[in-house]
Amino acid sequence: MMVRPGYFLAVSLTLSLLFLDSRVNYGASGPKFNDGGNKHNLSISNTGVNYKASNAADPRSTQICIFCHTPHNAKPQTVLWNRADTTQTFGHYSSSTLSIHTDASARTSSDYKAEPNGSSRLCLSCHDGVTALGAILTGQAIEVNGSTLTAMSGTHVFDRSKITNSHHPVSFKYTVDVVARLRTLENPGSDYWLPANSSSQAKNFVKLDREQRVQCTTCHDPHQTKYNDTLNTPSLTPFWVYDGSGLGTVNADTVHDEVCYACHSFKAPNL
Ligand code: HEC
Ligand code: HEC
Ligand code: HEC
Ligand code: HEC
Repeated sequence: MMVRPGYFLAVSLTLSLLFLDSRVNYGASGPKFNDGGNKHNLSISNTGVNYKASNAADPRSTQICIFCHTPHNAKPQTVLWNRADTTQTFGHYSSSTLSIHTDASARTSSDYKAEPNGSSRLCLSCHDGVTALGAILTGQAIEVNGSTLTAMSGTHVFDRSKITNSHHPVSFKYTVDVVARLRTLENPGSDYWLPANSSSQAKNFVKLDREQRVQCTTCHDPHQTKYNDTLNTPSLTPFWVYDGSGLGTVNADTVHDEVCYACHSFKAPNL
């Protein structure tokens, strides 16, 4: 995963101009749960998705939130997960240039743990490719695509290899101390900011969790993508937290990159 190089940006800018008039969804958010096609709506009545509940006789099949939240969640501010923890071990992303992994001080202050934690584990309890999509915390698994055992397959699966090699690191603390250490280590090659201190238009959308950790939800909004990328397959902005508001040029590349710029500058050689 990387910020797209210049030529790619130029191509997509041209495409955007060519198709501007015909693009009904230009700059628009993606389907809400109640519209068809939201991939996190696993209820039986959804349309245009690869996975959904299939047993019409099971009243739970018509519910949407049940796949992630308990139906008895009376307090929205305390999110209650309705999924059993994944049984897989993933490890964490590492690379020779990743300071939160290689530098003792950055590693301690970021508390970079061996496994994804927090809400990222909720994501992995469906995206591990092993746990049944309908396996909720209490009660029998909900039947999906004809079986209570159906698990995810294909490019959306996050196994050990994907977590350790090819998706953004998660579950580390991103605090003033971490930023200060990264700046010492990596300037002038790169720069780091806390989102609040950056000039990125996405700074109010990029989220850290209650422990100030980067999680999957730092970049992804699991309820609805805020920017529907209708030009690229796969999407550059799937379940994206940012809609492009405040940007002069709104397209998938700029909306994607602005989220990265909330924390990074990308000056070679180090990220
Ligand atoms: C695919 C999993 C998933 C589904 C389905 C889902 N949620 Fe969530 N929900 C989450 C996650 C993850 C968070 C935590 C977001 C965060 O940390 O910012 C969350 C947070 C929330 C919150 C707390 C406020 C917020 O937005 O952070 C509310 C309220 C909520 N969900 C309601 C619902 C309702 C109502 C439904 C069904 C219509 C639903 N959710 C379906 C995953 C899901
Ligand atoms: C209840 C199961 C479930 C949970 C929990 C879940 N997902 Fe998904 N997710 C899915 C399914 C099913 C798909 C579609 C897979 C496919 O079509 O191959 C999907 C697709 C996605 C996509 C790609 C969307 C696209 O447009 O292609 C992203 C990004 C994603 N999920 C992120 C997350 C994140 C982040 C979390 C945790 C906050 C999460 N998911 C939790 C089931 C889940
Ligand atoms: C730093 C931002 C960021 C974080 C953190 C992040 N993602 Fe993503 N994710 C992206 C971007 C950007 C894409 C789309 C383009 C790409 O893959 O480069 C994407 C794509 C995806 C997809 C679509 C399939 C694919 O791989 O392209 C899924 C599913 C997904 N992410 C799930 C997750 C899960 C689960 C986590 C937490 C373990 C996570 N993401 C953490 C930025 C992020
Ligand atoms: C919330 C802040 C934040 C956001 C948003 C963010 N990153 Fe990061 N990213 C970091 C931190 C911190 C590191 C760890 C840097 C280190 O330890 O050297 C990192 C690491 C990386 C690495 C690994 C570098 C290496 O040396 O192996 C890549 C690649 C990366 N980010 C790309 C992106 C991209 C692309 C986006 C946007 C889709 C993005 N980041 C969004 C904070 C963020």
